Amino acid sequence: MTIRDSEPLLTIEHLVVDYRGRRRSLPVRASDDVSLSIEAGETLGLVGESGSGKSTIGNAVLGFTPVSGGRIAFAGEDITQVGAARRRQLTKDIQVIFQNPYASLNPALTIGQTLSEPLRAHGIATDAADRRARIERWLDVVGLPAAAAQKYPSDFSGGQRQRIAIARALLVEPRLVVCDEAVSALDLSIQAQILNLLAELQQRTGVSYLFITHDLAVVEHVAHRLAVLHYGRVVESGATADVLASPQNDYTRNLLDAVPSPDPVVQRARRSRKTLLR
Ligand SMILES: Nc1ncnc2c1ncn2[C@@H]1O[C@H](COP(=O)(O)OP(=O)(O)O)[C@@H](O)[C@H]1O
Ligand SMILES: [Mg+2]
Repeated sequence: MTIRDSEPLLTIEHLVVDYRGRRRSLPVRASDDVSLSIEAGETLGLVGESGSGKSTIGNAVLGFTPVSGGRIAFAGEDITQVGAARRRQLTKDIQVIFQNPYASLNPALTIGQTLSEPLRAHGIATDAADRRARIERWLDVVGLPAAAAQKYPSDFSGGQRQRIAIARALLVEPRLVVCDEAVSALDLSIQAQILNLLAELQQRTGVSYLFITHDLAVVEHVAHRLAVLHYGRVVESGATADVLASPQNDYTRNLLDAVPSPDPVVQRARRSRKTLLR
C-alpha cells in the first residue's frame, strides 16, 4: 500500500510527556516512551480507552503540549523545540480537526471569514477574488453550497459543521492532519459520511492522518495501521487488519470486545450507550 522509498512523513521517537501534578501530587506521565511513524498518504489509527494518552500525543505533534523527552520529526525536522514563528509556519503543513465542531468554529464569524483566516495567515490567495474562489471550491469539495460562506455556524447541523472544520483544515493543503475524535460526537450515519469524505480527500490530496479515537469500530475502515495505547504506552501496533484479526495483547482484546457486534441492532444499542456514557 505504502511505498517505503523514503523516510516517513512523521516519526515519533521515545516521546515522553509529563504533566505537572496539581499542588504536591505526583506528575502524570501521559506519554511514556512512545515511538511511531506515519508515511505520506497514510492513516495511522491511534486507539485506546479514555485517558490512555491519545490526545497528549496529538497535542505534542501540534505543539500544544510541551515535550519532556524524545523526538518528533516532521519531514526530517525535529519540531519539539521550534520557536513560535516556525510553529506558526508549521500550521500550514500540520492541521487539526477536533471532536467538537460547536466549540472549534467561532460563532461570531461567517463561514467565509472562518475559512479566510488560515489563507491570510499563510499568505495564500491574497487577492479577495482568489480567496473567494478557493473557499467556494472547498465548500463544494466538502459537500456544501457556495452560499454557506455567508452563513454562521449556528445555521448548520453537527455533521455540516464538521464538514466546515474539514474544509478549514484542508484548504491550506497540509501534509498531515491530526483528527482527534473527529467523528466521535456524530450520529452513526453521519460518522460514515464524514469518514468517507476524509478517505476521499486523502485519495485526492495524499494527506496523512493521525486518526485518534477511543472507538475501534471507527478506525477499522480508515486506518492503514493501528497503534494501541494503554497508560501512555504503545502496547500493540501493526496493519489494521492484522491487529483486529489477531490481537496479541489482552488490553487490545478487551478494546475489541467493546466493539459492536455484527448485529446492527446490538451495534446501535451499544454505540448509543457508549455515547451517553462519555
Ligand atoms: N493538561 C493536563 N494536565 C494534567 N494532566 C493531564 C492534562 N491533559 C491530560 N492529562 C492526563 O494525561 C492522561 C492522558 O490524557 P489524554 O492524552 O487526554 O488521554 P486520551 O486522549 O487518550 O483520553 C490522563 O491521565 C489525563 O488526565
Ligand atoms: Mg482525548
